[in-house]
Amino acid sequence: MTNILLINGSKSAPSKSQGIWEYAIMALAEQGVKTALLSVRDLPAEDLVFWKYNSPNLEQPKALLTDAQAVIIATPIYKASSTGLLKTFLDLLPQKA
Ligand SMILES: Cc1cc2nc3c(=O)[nH]c(=O)nc-3n(C[C@H](O)[C@H](O)[C@H](O)COP(=O)(O)O)c2cc1C
Repeated sequence: MTNILLINGSKSAPSKSQGIWEYAIMALAEQGVKTALLSVRDLPAEDLVFWKYNSPNLEQPKALLTDAQAVIIATPIYKASSTGLLKTFLDLLPQKA
C-alpha cells in the first residue's frame, strides 16, 4: 500500500492548512492510500532551532520520513516565505533525504 507522509508547516492551531490536510487524508483514504500527518508545530522548538539532530524527540518524525514513499508539504505563506518552523525541520534532514 502506498504510504504518504503529509507535513503541515503551520505554526497555528486551529490551522487552515490542517483543514486542508484533513480533507486530503479522507480523499486519499478513499483511494486506498495510507497517510501519516506530521505537524511541525508539535515538534520541540528548541531541538529545531538549535539543530539537535540526534534528539530522541525527533526519532519518530525522522522514522515517518524514512518509511514514506512520498512526502507532501503544505505550509502557509508568511511575508512571501514558508514558515520558519518548517524551514528548521527541513534543515535537520540529511543531505540526500
Ligand atoms: C503576518 C502574516 C503574513 C502573511 N503573509 C502572506 C503572504 O506573504 N502571502 C500569502 O499568500 N499569504 C500570507 N498570509 C496569509 C496566510 O498564509 C494564510 O492566512 C494561511 O492560510 C494561514 O494558514 P494556517 O491557518 O494553516 O496557519 C499572511 C498572514 C499573516 C498573519
